[in-house]
Amino acid sequence: MPQGKPDMLNIALPKGRLGDKVYALFAQIGYDCELYNEANRKLVISNEETGVSYFLVKPSDVAIYVERGAADIGVVGKDTLIESGADVYELLDLGLGKCRVAVAGPTGYREDRGSTLRVATKYGNIAKKYYASRNRDIEIIKLNGSIELAPILGLSDVIVDIVETGSTLRENNLAVLEEIMPISARLIANKSEYKFKKERIDSLTAGLRAELEKTR
Ligand code: PRP
Repeated sequence: MPQGKPDMLNIALPKGRLGDKVYALFAQIGYDCELYNEANRKLVISNEETGVSYFLVKPSDVAIYVERGAADIGVVGKDTLIESGADVYELLDLGLGKCRVAVAGPTGYREDRGSTLRVATKYGNIAKKYYASRNRDIEIIKLNGSIELAPILGLSDVIVDIVETGSTLRENNLAVLEEIMPISARLIANKSEYKFKKERIDSLTAGLRAELEKTR
């Protein structure tokens, strides 16, 4: 059976901590799906009564599912949204998963402006754009996780990464050197599905906005 049924609202949720918070918010305004809270490995869960299907997606893949219409809408961190370059509508800032993208390096690090800066990151596009705007020559070292290891082992000079509490940096004798941008979770929509399902998507967006207002 093909997924992404046309009569349902198909929502890509990031798996993990952010996804749990986002699901709780959606459930609160009537888009619940009790299978979400059951410990299983299902990646597609639906509730015919409320008319929603949730797809549980790796956070960095949400934007591509939505851009290509495999999901109508989704929730994604602004960082991965920018990094992906996905052509989607950004409907709402959910204010969840707040953190920042920053340049970090060894505490007391002094940059040698005369040589190419080696930057370890999973955010290659964000890093390139940031340094291009400052006319700084860099070499990107693309990593997929535990980015903080790179300057410790001399693999890079600095890192461009997410900083939330700052404890990963502190515990590894690293510090924020420059702030690049603040981040939070965004509700996004596929551009053509938005037109087909405008009423439902607008109503969900309004419901989320009202719910968020209560806690602000
Ligand atoms: C992220 C990020 C930092 C850490 C920042 O890693 O890459 O390592 O969280 O959080 P903090 O400021 O609260 O310490 P994540 O947990 O996603 O794992 P990863 O290293 O595999 O990317």
